[in-house]
Amino acid sequence: MTSTAEWKEKESKYYMFLVRRQPMVIERGEGTHVWDTDGKEYLDFTSGWAVNNIGHANPVMAEAIAKQAKTLLQTSNQFYTIPQLQLAELLVENSCMDKVFFCNSGAEANEGAIKLAKKNGKKHRNGAFEIITALNSFHGRTMGTLAATGQPAYQEKFTPLQPGFVHVDYNDVEAIMNATTDKTAAVMIEPIQGEAGVVIPADDYLKRVRDWCDQKGILLILDEVQTGMGRLGSLFGYQEYGIEPDVMTLAKGLGYGVPIGAFMSKEHCMALVPGDHGSTFGGNMLTTAAAYAGTKFLIDNDIPAKTKEMEPYLLGRLNDLKGRFSFISEIRGKGLLAAMDFESEISPQVLTAANEAGILLNAPRPTTIRFMPPLTITKEEIDQGMERLGNALATI
Ligand SMILES: Cc1ncc(COP(=O)(O)O)c(C=O)c1O
Repeated sequence: MTSTAEWKEKESKYYMFLVRRQPMVIERGEGTHVWDTDGKEYLDFTSGWAVNNIGHANPVMAEAIAKQAKTLLQTSNQFYTIPQLQLAELLVENSCMDKVFFCNSGAEANEGAIKLAKKNGKKHRNGAFEIITALNSFHGRTMGTLAATGQPAYQEKFTPLQPGFVHVDYNDVEAIMNATTDKTAAVMIEPIQGEAGVVIPADDYLKRVRDWCDQKGILLILDEVQTGMGRLGSLFGYQEYGIEPDVMTLAKGLGYGVPIGAFMSKEHCMALVPGDHGSTFGGNMLTTAAAYAGTKFLIDNDIPAKTKEMEPYLLGRLNDLKGRFSFISEIRGKGLLAAMDFESEISPQVLTAANEAGILLNAPRPTTIRFMPPLTITKEEIDQGMERLGNALATI
């Protein structure tokens, strides 16, 4: 049997060194738990970066994937396919959107939304093409979404960037107003900034941005790649804020572990026509059958509502830790997306100690760790996770 050390050696020999990995080789999972190749068990508060919303190895997913694998995996979008249309119906009927197009990742979903907004601007706003996005946003790593992402650190090595993006402060409606010109086609923002460290805007921010977009006739694109599929306590994040976007992008949680993305649009701005966009694997039968099964499970079991109920419990337990450790400066969160801030840049040490203690965490910032467990997590598992995190923090 190949040992953990041997797997690490293979990685350094064969795999591009683009991500600094934690030292374990994760081999299998069940519910909120995963195990490494040494047999050590962890509580997973990362969910594959906000993906495994209905837990690891959920039998619903295993059955749907096996059934589809035995039926047909791929035919291309040249033909009608059933799982794709079943998923399309489920998403449209459960959202404010009229149409969907499937792709393979969050970045691709945002690429589609950007193209839609530009085409809409050409058609309905005298050629407007600019998209206002927020500083510290994260929209992906393709060249288009990198230009949209308001983080110079990710961008500067890959200049020249695609033009047509204007970045303004997040949670600042006046900044959007000041940046709006005749060239503005859309505003694209996250309901909560995930990669920035779970940055939660004022309660009325999205509503005020919506009003401004309506007043100016520009599109509101919500990047719900991280916040969608129940994460904030509603099926989609926009439902938490009493507004409707014109365009919405999804990925991560939509796949429950399989790689899929989607951009959704209201009819009034659905400017794309045949030939404008496409994808070989987008809407593939395997991924859509899996996403359909997972989404049906999520909706039928009212998991977004359970997520909302669990929010005060998780935040309460995190605040208990804040009471114990003076170097914790802030706890914040919504649904089951939460963050813990530290007085200094100790996130890497906290992650290492947490690994030892048996809880997997993610550190979007040197001073911030993020919590995004499966939405099916129980109170007992939260208790156990917080006990392990407490043990880890005690070693810092
Ligand atoms: C809000 C948001 N948009 C887009 C992306 C990009 O998604 P992907 O990594 O699937 O391309 C991410 C990834 O973290 C994200 O958090």
